Amino acid sequence: MSRRRIIAGNWKMNMRLDTATALAKGVAESVGENPEVDVVLCPPSIYLSAVGTAVEGTPVGLGAQNLYAAQDGAFTGEVNAAMLTDVGCGYVILGHSERRALLGETDQQISEKLHSALAGNLTPIVCVGETLEDRESGQTEQVVETQVRGSLAGLDAGQAASIVLASEPVWAIGTGNTATPEQAEEVHAFIRKLLGEIFSAEIAGQIRIQYGGSVKPNNATELLGQPNIDGALVGGASLKVEDFAGIIHAG
Ligand code: 13P
Repeated sequence: MSRRRIIAGNWKMNMRLDTATALAKGVAESVGENPEVDVVLCPPSIYLSAVGTAVEGTPVGLGAQNLYAAQDGAFTGEVNAAMLTDVGCGYVILGHSERRALLGETDQQISEKLHSALAGNLTPIVCVGETLEDRESGQTEQVVETQVRGSLAGLDAGQAASIVLASEPVWAIGTGNTATPEQAEEVHAFIRKLLGEIFSAEIAGQIRIQYGGSVKPNNATELLGQPNIDGALVGGASLKVEDFAGIIHAG
């Protein structure tokens, strides 16, 4: 079956309010009314409302970069799924490698967040990816498998079909060292096979797997042309309309 491509911009902790809304409007303009791919913007949470307003009435979706897996309560500084839905989010990035590495997020926490996102009707974009050390020591598949199994723990097949995975090699993020299409496809094919074992071949065939890590307009076409690469999670190149548009419109 064919999977609709999904291109998401992870703005990370960048932008100021005026540039954020201008960028969002620019992206919406470039996307037009009837894009062939799903397009999602993930600004810092403080700007979600403003960016949501900027893209209102357009096909551009809104996503958060994280959530806290609890109902309302005494969790200072945190934001939950219901709050994200309130401000117009349809998506949430979970388990980004920066959160895993800098904030010690574990697969178990990511799995709790995932269940919370699904209960709140958010489409989760679950990130996995090996470090350079993992790759050089031949551990890529083992590391990715542990992350996929741990992060998706307790998910039933029906829920699984609606999630998005993002395979982001840590060594490719923000470095300009994009994985070659062959390297990326190898990991994506492995993940899809694994999803087939965990759920079923049919469900695995429905789950979209994005590639992330130094995606640019000049390498997007080849990456997105791989059979198991269903979109991109874009950092740096999502901060400029021309660059992000170039990836969205990559043939
Ligand atoms: P870059 O595109 O800047 O490498 O970032 C990728 C990323 O981490 C997206 O989540």
